[in-house]
Amino acid sequence: MEKITEEVWEKLFARAREAMENAYAPYSRFRVGAALLAKDGRIFAGCNVENASYSLTICAERVAVAMAVAAGCREFIALALVSSADDYIYPCGACRQVLIEFAPAMPVGVTGPQGLKVVTVAELLPAPFDSSVLQPRSGK
Ligand code: THU
Repeated sequence: MEKITEEVWEKLFARAREAMENAYAPYSRFRVGAALLAKDGRIFAGCNVENASYSLTICAERVAVAMAVAAGCREFIALALVSSADDYIYPCGACRQVLIEFAPAMPVGVTGPQGLKVVTVAELLPAPFDSSVLQPRSGK
């Protein structure tokens, strides 16, 4: 796991909190913000975007990943996650699967009553389903 300085975490959390302000969460009232640091230094932020159909809700982390990939970034250094709750929150299962696609070793920073905690995506999703088991396309 790459060592992220306190200063960089602070910057990422600031961007995540900023994005959280834009959360569209009229149903759960639970706001989430994520900031993803790409290898080239750019930061991509996301918030949760809910929907009246509920199941079409997109989490903040997946919004951030999609923003980054659409901008041409696929290599990531760190992810900071914040929410409107006082306690720590960790990415949901669907987001763990999406994060591990691009960055298994990436540190994920979360804040709560005991300050910063950091875990890697691989720690959050042991024994993942990933591309290593897929056969190369055979034209079918
Ligand atoms: N949510 C996220 O944005 N990220 C997570 O990792 C957990 C859940 C959102 C989805 C929904 O809008 C709200 O939080 C409550 O589940």
